Amino acid sequence: MIQKAAMMRKFMIAGNWKLHGSHAMIRQWLADFMALDTSIDALDVALCVPYVYLPMLSTNASKNILIGAQDVSAHDTGAHTGEVSAAMLQEVGARLVLIGHSERRQDHAESDELVRAKFKQALAQGLMPVVCVGESQQQRENNETFAVIERQLNAIIDLLNAANADQCILAYEPIWAIGTGLTASAEQAQEVHQFIRSQLAHKDVTMARQIRLLYGGSCKGSNAYELFSMPDVDGGLIGGASLKAEDFMAICHQANKLLDKTQSD
Ligand code: PGA
Repeated sequence: MIQKAAMMRKFMIAGNWKLHGSHAMIRQWLADFMALDTSIDALDVALCVPYVYLPMLSTNASKNILIGAQDVSAHDTGAHTGEVSAAMLQEVGARLVLIGHSERRQDHAESDELVRAKFKQALAQGLMPVVCVGESQQQRENNETFAVIERQLNAIIDLLNAANADQCILAYEPIWAIGTGLTASAEQAQEVHQFIRSQLAHKDVTMARQIRLLYGGSCKGSNAYELFSMPDVDGGLIGGASLKAEDFMAICHQANKLLDKTQSD
């Protein structure tokens, strides 16, 4: 923690609503979130929601919640039916965007090249890209975890530098832990986060120190403290537990507790 504080990486807690939400759910979520008394001022708190709800959330959510999308087109304009560009996301209030989530890599056969192209679009429009990497159960069992992560990182690593590192986020999401209730242990998460940071450091030590690495995969109020207390874990990307304001706030609360601890260390 002392290390994290010294480097001044601000915790980020980002929700990923996936294919969930409705106007009624959003109204309820925002009212519930407002009614909870945990302060989020010391954190970066974000919600990545289906495209169609971006305007509603960016208008109605309190200004200290960053609103984001879950995907972006690799193109800026043209004949690409069904796509949404980074400039369009900007226009409806998105500040960040998930890129290369494993559900997109799997369900839509998104390649590392496509992830790279989307990453470039996000950067060009000033959206904060949150690039997701992670191995499957099979790959972990075959001892391929580091090779898979390295390959996924290599798709974007040359685009990262000390000047943009505080505007780029990486999320380690082991596929076997997503939505399964199986969380990576804090040590498993730290091992991979440390690996990611060391890979980045080969390119640029300053960039590697600045960039925030989130953990995602069945993260909830009951395990967030342990995960976030790891030196290279700078917050979480939260699926299921972001759908209820109370559950999401419980995770923010754990991050706050760690900040309090750091200040009193
Ligand atoms: P989960 O999802 O928290 O429901 O496991 C995380 C994610 O896919 O981003």
